[in-house]
Amino acid sequence: MTPEIFVYPLFACPGEGIRKPVPSMPGVYNLSVDQIVEECLEVHALGIPAVIVFGIPEGKDAVGSGGYDDDGIVQRALNAIRQEVPGLLRIADTCLCEYTDHGHCGVVENRDVDNDRTLALLARTAVSQARAGADVVAPSDMMDGRVAAIRSALDAGGFERTPILSYAAKYCSAFYGPFRDAAQSAPQFGDRRTYQMDPANHREGMREIRADIQEGADMVMVKPAMPYLDVLWHAKRRFGLPTAAYQVSGEYAMLHAAAANGWLDFERAAIESLTCIRRAGADFILTYLAKDAARLLA
Ligand code: PBG
Repeated sequence: MTPEIFVYPLFACPGEGIRKPVPSMPGVYNLSVDQIVEECLEVHALGIPAVIVFGIPEGKDAVGSGGYDDDGIVQRALNAIRQEVPGLLRIADTCLCEYTDHGHCGVVENRDVDNDRTLALLARTAVSQARAGADVVAPSDMMDGRVAAIRSALDAGGFERTPILSYAAKYCSAFYGPFRDAAQSAPQFGDRRTYQMDPANHREGMREIRADIQEGADMVMVKPAMPYLDVLWHAKRRFGLPTAAYQVSGEYAMLHAAAANGWLDFERAAIESLTCIRRAGADFILTYLAKDAARLLA
């Protein structure tokens, strides 16, 4: 395992000189664009090749328009990274939950997400992100048909060479809790069970991955990571595509909470967790531990 397999998540927020700590995720911040650039210089110097960018917009509305605003927060962050740290690979998280006032990953009709009406907005978001400098777009919404919709919109927009990293087997997980603090994206009613997967289902995970590959996904992801190593193992063996695992916010928060109590050795547990995710088949790992692990592995 080397730092070359890590992707570091970043949370871009409006303003100047802002570094707002996320309480449940020690060492993780909401960063204004100038601070994102500083962070990216550090990440790059540590030998980590890529970042994934999330956004906390100025305002939210029912249709998540901040997500596909060409001057939106993620678009500005991507553009700044492209200018200032050109050697870093830029991945954009393509979803609407950070931009909707109800916190769901798509537009809502009768208190449930309208899958098909959401597709066009996700496609628009992906094209806007590619235009702003995303090298890869990563849809995390789990709407059915979104990879195909995004692929055709990217192709039509002149981005036929922009690959799609699909959050293909994304489970409806309690381990996303701290992320929703970081991104202020908790659903205001209901939950994500109508679009994210039931943690008990393994074969459904495989079907979701197959569908995304058929629709044109270039890389697939399993999320969360540690509680889903069986899914990861099978995904890599069965499909053979470049396969990512997302060690999510709750996995990171657990390590920190236990270490803060003196209940486990943070450094050993961090490296062990990443090693086991790698062993289970991850070609690359999205992790908040990327900077710590890069230092430990140096
Ligand atoms: C957006 C998204 C989420 C995460 C990544 N993209 C939150 C969610 O689905 O609720 C979670 C990442 C993490 O917990 O670290 N849909």
